[in-house]
Amino acid sequence: MTLPGVLLLDGAGPEAGLLAAAAAARGHQVHAATTAAGYADYGPELKGLLAGRVVTDFARPDRALDEIASYARRRGVGAVLTVNEYLTELAARLCAELGVPGNDPGRARAARDKAAMAEAFAAAGVRAPYTVLVRDKAGLRSALADPRVGFPCVIKPLSGAGSAGVTVVSGSAGAAAAADAARAAVGMYDVGGNPRVLVQAYAAGTEYSVESLTQDGATTHLAVTRKQVTGGPKRVETGHSLPVSLPPAVEAAVYQEVEAAIRAAGIRHSASHTEVIVGGDGRCAVIEIGARLAAGQIGVLIQHALGIDVWAALLDVALARPAALDPTACGYATVRFVTSPRAGRLTSLCGFPKTGPGVPFVRWRAAIGGTVDEPGANGHRLGSFVVTGPDAAEVEGRADALLRRVRIRVEPAPENTGQVRPARTSAIAP
Ligand SMILES: Nc1ncnc2c1ncn2[C@@H]1O[C@H](COP(=O)(O)OP(=O)(O)OP(=O)(O)O)[C@@H](O)[C@H]1O
Ligand SMILES: [Mg+2]
Repeated sequence: MTLPGVLLLDGAGPEAGLLAAAAAARGHQVHAATTAAGYADYGPELKGLLAGRVVTDFARPDRALDEIASYARRRGVGAVLTVNEYLTELAARLCAELGVPGNDPGRARAARDKAAMAEAFAAAGVRAPYTVLVRDKAGLRSALADPRVGFPCVIKPLSGAGSAGVTVVSGSAGAAAAADAARAAVGMYDVGGNPRVLVQAYAAGTEYSVESLTQDGATTHLAVTRKQVTGGPKRVETGHSLPVSLPPAVEAAVYQEVEAAIRAAGIRHSASHTEVIVGGDGRCAVIEIGARLAAGQIGVLIQHALGIDVWAALLDVALARPAALDPTACGYATVRFVTSPRAGRLTSLCGFPKTGPGVPFVRWRAAIGGTVDEPGANGHRLGSFVVTGPDAAEVEGRADALLRRVRIRVEPAPENTGQVRPARTSAIAP
């Protein structure tokens, strides 16, 4: 019997690579829809296992939909998956077009465009920070004066990701610059020039994400993840750890909001990653939802801590087969992201961990000699590594110790000379 083909919308990145490898290992032909530039960045392993590809332009989604659908029909594609946040709406539309399991295309924008998300959450009664869509200076002034917003507040782009262009603003003085930063953070396939930004009430508390899989509208939560995030105006993730056990009443409240958010975003057949902030009173605010597996190696954490084969499970969901979601291990895993303390040119690196016992995954992505940024968005990560083991405190301690050993040297880049501090070697603790 010929197995259905599996199509990845964008095969870039470690998560897509693992998914492609899992599908190929099960005997599926794996296809990728990609841009020309995106394909050039695929590694040899991924290129080697692809049965075919369709080159398209994701910035023109209607055309991309037609091109990918006709390719998929020709090649017997029976499952469509993406781990690219920017393509989840296109994935839902494509699934509907092909008649394969997928999310509700009529609601899929709510998991991508944060203005649509805020509207969908408000309509469904999901607890989320009060949000105002601002088009111009007058709109910004009136949003800042709205007592439902207050200070601090958060100014963010509509369709951003990776914390790019998100600023926590403590007073009206910084708001115009924050709005400019949000406008400048153009999404991966956006053409830019969108004058609108979001002004959002600040939710105080501890940040978590909930990793879930929904099949035929029934949701299983795989794990709650604690997020390490920098303080200050730019909130950049420095690590994730799982599984977290919340007090039962808090967990129930979090799951209730997450499930409401999943329904509001039309998630019927896919992974989701829902970010929440739990306040001191145990109440939870949903910051955002993505109709995809979490990025930042959270899939690897789930696999190692809980023994769930998330890649196989994602495939099963996409193919409408029963997915094995019960944990087969009860360990703990954490990832640390390495960032540069300042912008400049990376001249040396030492002490970055290697894979070995308890360190199942490492990824270094910055080139020596290349420019690096101070952490203002997740894209500024230089590398990451995962630590896993049976005991949470030991795993956290080991991850922190490994991070302290990482040394980089960053010199002023020629174009930045005069704007950055002189070169010095520094530890890269978050
Ligand atoms: N309303 C809010 N209240 C408090 N903190 C917030 C709020 N909105 C955003 N943040 C902080 O800013 C970070 C980035 O915001 P958000 O998740 O909306 O952006 P993003 O670009 O989608 O990020 P990512 O893709 O990294 O998840 C959050 O993880 C959180 O730390
Ligand atoms: Mg986020």
